[in-house]
Amino acid sequence: MGDVAERAMKIPPFIVMDVLERAQALERQGRRIIHLEVGEPDFPTPECICEEANKAICDGLTHYTHSLGLIELREAICEHYAGKYAVKVHPDQVVITSGTSPALFMIFAALLDRDDEIIISDPHYPCYPNFATFLGAKPVCVNVLEDDGFQFRAEEIRARITPKSKAILVNSPSNPTGMLLSPDRMSQIAQIGPYVISDEIYHGLVYGEKEHSILEFTDRAFVLNGFSKAFAMTGWRLGYILAPKEFVRPLQKIHQNFFISAGSVSQWAGLAALRSAASDVERMRKIYDERRRFLIRRLRELGFALKVEPEGAFYVFLNVRHLSGNSYELAFDILEKAGVGVTPGIDFGENAEGYIRISYANSLENITEGLDRIEAYLKSR
Ligand SMILES: Cc1ncc(COP(=O)(O)O)c(C=O)c1O
Repeated sequence: MGDVAERAMKIPPFIVMDVLERAQALERQGRRIIHLEVGEPDFPTPECICEEANKAICDGLTHYTHSLGLIELREAICEHYAGKYAVKVHPDQVVITSGTSPALFMIFAALLDRDDEIIISDPHYPCYPNFATFLGAKPVCVNVLEDDGFQFRAEEIRARITPKSKAILVNSPSNPTGMLLSPDRMSQIAQIGPYVISDEIYHGLVYGEKEHSILEFTDRAFVLNGFSKAFAMTGWRLGYILAPKEFVRPLQKIHQNFFISAGSVSQWAGLAALRSAASDVERMRKIYDERRRFLIRRLRELGFALKVEPEGAFYVFLNVRHLSGNSYELAFDILEKAGVGVTPGIDFGENAEGYIRISYANSLENITEGLDRIEAYLKSR
């Protein structure tokens, strides 16, 4: 393997990036590509957030912060969880991080020893198994099925529990399925025994039922959340962990060593987001919902069954088994021939093969054109 460490050689890439990079190459050749592959809000960050960040820069608030994060932001996060979910979290249980991704890595690092097992759904966000494997732990997949609304089944999870099971990961609303875990299933999962790690990054982006935090059901849980999605703040790199008290000091030490603190300006921006951006979040949510409805209707017109409608996040996970058994080839074929970027299901696990993920974090005009192009592509096959 040469000089590169084995763990670095073995970590898989994000396939969606392969699609994006090929799309960009086509764009450089002059093609117009419709991007329905990327999982990133197309909206600019709300003005009230940017104004506070500018103010922080002008006021010289550009130094390291406390390694757990600004106390003002930690308090605001606790108030947010108390107000929205009626759960009590102390500011000392909050660790502010440079995005949800480092938060996820830190939780795994603090919780998983070598050979420990973590139960995740399949389909899943690709980082989950990749981070676990990178740390020498073992991801154990439980298939979630379209016929069952892509819901995690507590019985299936129980059947995979071993003495090595350390954690169960839930992600509701889910990337890639848009599934919202029902409160009774969440409660059942909370009772199984291992710690639950709840990725709540898509909270705020729900279109029917209300989303629930794992902390409504158990304290034996880690929440990870961030500002990237609901507040359209991907580039600010801001996230956080809500951790059981005994894990805060270990997480803090990991954070100090690896990252020192999250960016100060981003943290002031995050505070403004929680204090002032609720109406912006609602405005964006309504637009996503409009696009979601359009996409569902249009996909059905094109003959896709779409047994379950996504209820959160900004993705439709589309069964394309009747078109191809190889989602990777299909996604690249759609890109080359129709000029539309979509993400192959295989990026999200073996059970996700036969699907593609379509993101509606793009304008209605672009989504309309993307779907028209897909229609023409289907007719020409
Ligand atoms: C389910 C899920 N978790 C975590 C992340 C990471 O978000 P960030 O690091 O931007 O906070 C993403 C980003 O797409 C995601 O979809």
